[in-house]
Amino acid sequence: MRRFFVAGNWKMNETVAEAETLVKALLPELEKYESVDKAVCPSYLAVPAVAGLCKGSSLKVGAQNLFWEESGAFTAEVAPKMVAELCDYVIVGHSERRKYFGETDETVNRRLKAALGAGLLVIVCVGETLEENEAGQTEAVVTRQLRQGLADITPEQADSITIAYEPVWAIGTGRAATPEDANHVHKDVIRPLLVEMFGKERAESMRIQYGGSIKPNNAAELFAMSDIDGGLVGGASLKADSFVEIIKAAAMVTIIIEESEA
Ligand code: 13P
Repeated sequence: MRRFFVAGNWKMNETVAEAETLVKALLPELEKYESVDKAVCPSYLAVPAVAGLCKGSSLKVGAQNLFWEESGAFTAEVAPKMVAELCDYVIVGHSERRKYFGETDETVNRRLKAALGAGLLVIVCVGETLEENEAGQTEAVVTRQLRQGLADITPEQADSITIAYEPVWAIGTGRAATPEDANHVHKDVIRPLLVEMFGKERAESMRIQYGGSIKPNNAAELFAMSDIDGGLVGGASLKADSFVEIIKAAAMVTIIIEESEA
């Protein structure tokens, strides 16, 4: 059975107090959609408060990054076991980390290994820039990001990984990829690569989220595509009603798929 995974990446938004208000608004609504896996990823500072509120609920908590070293003189960094103390998930390789903070495929790989070593579930982000897209390099870029980012990962470890395809030109622009274009990358580029790396059965059960201007009005058509297994939502996850609508869209598509298979 297909089970969608929708996560909210709050990025550098929401103070602790704002995060608490948002989660309190989300929790009673989101409990209605148990057929969908869901998570929110607040800033590190808001993680303890959000994790406390989410305890025992179906809303999981993720961090937006982590460092690969276990401890030591790395001012301002957060170690894998610190994240794992409070979070189920962590995001690595977000394009904003790549663009503004020097993240490379190699450091994505180091973070991924450290996160898996600490028992975290990991969302690995990939996606091409506008220039790369216009130059016809989408496949080459995503392939490189995955091959290098997921280097040395075993099939067993792959069970703890979600891939998020986030075309950079679609993030925060209000210009989402069309469902067909996004699905093409998921189905014809990412999934075959996962099959090659981890075998068919595992690759088929791995979830590939789409991210980039997902809104309540385009979520269902994206989730209805064969290889879009959920979403990584930025702006629309900062408002309780729009995030709930997106989760609801995933729940509705789940029902439609189940009925069509019955
Ligand atoms: P938006 O939904 O705001 O476009 O952000 C997507 C994103 O980057 C999620 O990680």
